[in-house]
Amino acid sequence: MKKLWGGRFEGKSEAWIDAFGASIPFDQKLAKQDIIGSLAHVKMLAKTGILTADEAEQITLGLTTIQEKLLADELTFSIENEDIHLNIEKLLHDEIGPVAGKLHTGRSRNDQVATDMHLYLKEIVQEVISKIHLFRQVLVHKAEENIGTIMPGYTHLQHAQPISFAHHMMAYYGMLTRDQERFSESLKRIDISPLGCAALAGTTFPIDRAYSAELLGFSSIYENSLDGVSDRDFILEFLSNSSILMMHLSRFCEEIILWCSHEFQFVELTDTFSTGSSIMPQKKNPDMAELIRGKSGRVYGNFFSLLTVLKGLPLAYNKDLQEDKEGMFDTSHTILTSLEIMAGMVETMKLNQEIMEKSTEKDFSNATELADYLASKGMPFRQAHEVVGKLVLDCTKQGIYLQDVPLEQYQAITPLIQSDIYQTLSSKTAIERRHSYGGTGFDQVKAAIERSKLKLESE
Ligand code: ARG
Repeated sequence: MKKLWGGRFEGKSEAWIDAFGASIPFDQKLAKQDIIGSLAHVKMLAKTGILTADEAEQITLGLTTIQEKLLADELTFSIENEDIHLNIEKLLHDEIGPVAGKLHTGRSRNDQVATDMHLYLKEIVQEVISKIHLFRQVLVHKAEENIGTIMPGYTHLQHAQPISFAHHMMAYYGMLTRDQERFSESLKRIDISPLGCAALAGTTFPIDRAYSAELLGFSSIYENSLDGVSDRDFILEFLSNSSILMMHLSRFCEEIILWCSHEFQFVELTDTFSTGSSIMPQKKNPDMAELIRGKSGRVYGNFFSLLTVLKGLPLAYNKDLQEDKEGMFDTSHTILTSLEIMAGMVETMKLNQEIMEKSTEKDFSNATELADYLASKGMPFRQAHEVVGKLVLDCTKQGIYLQDVPLEQYQAITPLIQSDIYQTLSSKTAIERRHSYGGTGFDQVKAAIERSKLKLESE
């Protein structure tokens, strides 16, 4: 079969080489964008008089027919035609004959593929933004339902200080808010048109790049044609933002997995988000959370893969750039589905409030309260720390907790300690008294939730 670029070739192509070079198995995902890009290009060619109105109309009609067939799932693509661009051009040729050959005036596949990718990613990033937004709503809702739910706060995975479960949810809300901002801010670098950069150097035809950009809904155009066809930063940035997002989701999933374990028993996932074991009848595994944690690996991999592809590339287009696609498609699918699963899983997750709260009573997470109590009565904090540390050691040896120490024993240590100490040592009081801005105090968490609700509404 004759190639669309076959003029200067004498030898026949070989199917196995064609298969290695082809991108059609994966870049057919860009069919919609490719047709839209061509429609804008041909309109520009007519406006500038490069093509006659009649030629442009024939091409437009042909492209529209292909567009309809695409929607009806009636197109077949072939490896011989290498990629989505040549496949569509071939289909156009079959549809309208030789005038199809005029479509490629004043452009190259190099600016064409870059245009398709910009159009594709712009759509995906907008979808990602709305999915993150939905997940943030779920987090705030879950937080709102659980302001009074007490759980151990950890450092080093050791009980540190009691916190409100809502505070924990709102921490993830903060991370996801930044993720959403990162994707939003990246849009301005995606929203640029490379169309008309041509192969690398621009074109002798009197094209109107601003016009085709406007038709495609781009906010600006690349200033430099070499840059326009070589730039893949916009994809890298997407992969980098996706990696950070997946890292956040993965941390959250790790916690959910821990919380589901017999050791914690803090939460139970609904059956929808769990699976069983083929051998152990009792098992209810948090597979979806594990998968999201696991899928962070492929997203990081896609980021590193493209970074590596790009690192030694001389300007302008090199076939290496064809390797930019699969990772982008895979990442898009992975993050969109992960966000959906997360939202459903967290929304429906049942909390075992009693176990959570109890686990803050059989521990020393109130030791800071005792030290702060002494410090507020005038004892230097360092000395208070030492006194409480010794007492904790003593309690550990006796197998009791600070709230079990009798008042006489406390007063033997220091008369600064009064009977109100037991109230001070309760988890609820420990949380209640943390009025510092952004802390876990119930009033603070409530205020944070209110602020987030306003923010979510305003977005
Ligand atoms: N399939 C190619 C890619 O994805 C399209 C651009 C081809 N350009 C070229 N000069 N071979 O990168």
